[in-house]
Amino acid sequence: MKVVHTSAVLKHALAAHNKVAFVPTMGNFHDGHLTLVELAKQQADCVVVSIFVNPLQFDSSADLEQYPRTLEADCKKLEAIGATIVFAPSVEEMYPDFDGTSLNQTMIITPPPMASILCGASRPGHFSGVATIVAKLFNLVQPDVAVFGKKDFQQLAIIRELVKQFNFAIEIIAGNIVREASGLAMSSRNGHFTAQQKTQAEQLNQALKSAIAGAQTTPTTFMNIEKQTTEALTKQGWEVDYISIRSALTLKPALEDDEQLVILGAATLANIRLIDNIEFCAKPLN
Ligand code: PAF
Repeated sequence: MKVVHTSAVLKHALAAHNKVAFVPTMGNFHDGHLTLVELAKQQADCVVVSIFVNPLQFDSSADLEQYPRTLEADCKKLEAIGATIVFAPSVEEMYPDFDGTSLNQTMIITPPPMASILCGASRPGHFSGVATIVAKLFNLVQPDVAVFGKKDFQQLAIIRELVKQFNFAIEIIAGNIVREASGLAMSSRNGHFTAQQKTQAEQLNQALKSAIAGAQTTPTTFMNIEKQTTEALTKQGWEVDYISIRSALTLKPALEDDEQLVILGAATLANIRLIDNIEFCAKPLN
């Protein structure tokens, strides 16, 4: 496995390979990331993993500074599962106009309206930062296939739009959410919880599951279910950003006759914001 830090060396390392599968990450790996790499390995002889904590997608500098940087440990895990190239560039390498403090000079991509709802509503600029860095990484790696996790369901939808609207000839593959036995979706943020908080964090996934059961069996509106789920989580001590049932295809608010649905939730427990989602059909599957 080669670890490269510049686009020039990356280009050289890529020259020997025919088909390239790409997994963009910000590092600090858990099993969810490694599953994406395994998925990439099934697609191509060369698997490139980027590790870059992208300042352009963070809302606050404190959040950016606190983000765990664990390059050495991450590379060991990637080596063990057989990644081919790790691309770990500096901020200056990715943003040539970075002046040492701000990225104000950087040309950014304005994503479509679906980036302003849900997480985009509470994190303005976040998806613009994601779309910009992913487009830059796509240009540098020029993969045939790129793998993204479904845990960031809205991000995945925006990346699909990016590929379509900017004519990237890249197949996007979605990796399923990897969960703890309790149902808690794996996330780098889970590491910030105490053991007791982590047990409580399972409530988010349980609440989404109960909401789906309600949506499939009770004659009530999606809006009522969202409201009841929000209230239940709030009573359990969560600060709920949103609980929302949407079309899994467009992310627009779900209509009664939509068949492919997704319930998405974002909520904060003990100052740690978690997201989760579950895709489902309007009627229970028999
Ligand atoms: O999902 C992530 O880790 C990041 O948003 C991504 C796609 C690597 C862009 O920085």
